[in-house]
Amino acid sequence: MKAVVYERYGPPDVLQIKDVEEPTPKDNEVLIKTRATTVTSGDWRARSLQMPPGFGFLARLVFGISRPRQPVLGSELAGDIESVGKHVSRFKVGDPVCAFAGVRMGCHAEYKCMPEDGALALKPANLTYDEAAALSFGGMTALGFFRRGKLQSGERVLVNGASGAVGTAAVQLAKHFGADVTGVCSTANVELVRFLGARHVIDYTKEDFTRNGETYDVIVDTVGTAPFSRSKGSLREGGRLLLVLGGLGDMLRMPWVSMTSRKKIVPGPAVGRAEGLRFLAELAERGEFKPVIGRRYPFEQIAEAHRYVDTGHKKGNVIITLEHGD
Ligand SMILES: NC(=O)c1ccc[n+]([C@@H]2O[C@H](COP(=O)([O-])OP(=O)(O)OC[C@H]3O[C@@H](n4cnc5c(N)ncnc54)[C@H](OP(=O)(O)O)[C@@H]3O)[C@@H](O)[C@H]2O)c1
Repeated sequence: MKAVVYERYGPPDVLQIKDVEEPTPKDNEVLIKTRATTVTSGDWRARSLQMPPGFGFLARLVFGISRPRQPVLGSELAGDIESVGKHVSRFKVGDPVCAFAGVRMGCHAEYKCMPEDGALALKPANLTYDEAAALSFGGMTALGFFRRGKLQSGERVLVNGASGAVGTAAVQLAKHFGADVTGVCSTANVELVRFLGARHVIDYTKEDFTRNGETYDVIVDTVGTAPFSRSKGSLREGGRLLLVLGGLGDMLRMPWVSMTSRKKIVPGPAVGRAEGLRFLAELAERGEFKPVIGRRYPFEQIAEAHRYVDTGHKKGNVIITLEHGD
């Protein structure tokens, strides 16, 4: 089968489409024929090893000290079940599914094995393969942070970076959980963020949310421009700062903030659970959650997709489509 392989860290040029051995499902696994996958900010970080300050060494421990341990990137996909292991009972050949492989990756390939009790769900009937492929990276990150931050109905939530993969999911999920949502984005994305459910939208090119006198129960920072030192004045008593993207400084400050105030810092990484994907798939099926697609690229142009993701200015999710000639 064809897969996108990288054997050293670096720019998108390190990616090569190669023939590799097709995986065989173990007894408890399914083999998925990939119809669509995504290039995420996670793929950018794992490929380039560009990490928030203080996390470089940790990243090498996770991804491989001198070169990538897992040569195929891609954390999520949608496709059809091609074959099943002999102990698989929840899925059958031909089922359309979506899956989240997380940091194990390997989704930038024509076929991918997943354990049946992993983050694997039937594709919501009302989503295309492209949309279903983008259900989990942003969705499970936002969901995981909201759960750890104990988001309550009626709370005021601000999402900084509301137009990205995590931000577009966070706005929709916060609205679903009954929050009053403010999204922070650039001028071009104001309408999108309002459409996704934000009651208030702040254009960061015109206004600094940390200086406008408004306060929130929960601030989600997906950009890294709202560390505790800047956003503490915008957090209410009992407020939580969900650091989807944060530096080591805030992590070290966490116990001190908890001891000396009623505010809390909730750091990453987000942990993706199988149940989380099923929850998102059900929400999508009911029409209450829909992944935002910014751009699509064919499999052969995946390096181009990486170049776009590398800019840090993408809208929603970037989809890679695969044709199998069937
Ligand atoms: N902790 C975890 O477990 C975890 C999980 C997933 C992702 N992450 C991290 O979270 C970050 C965001 O991920 P993502 O996938 O959502 O990234 P993304 O899709 O690239 O989105 C970033 C968004 O931020 C917007 N933006 C840029 N500068 C901004 C600013 N100053 N204020 C407000 N918005 C701004 C960009 O749009 P414009 O430039 O057009 O404004 C873009 O839409 C990444 O750094 C990623 O590594 C962490």
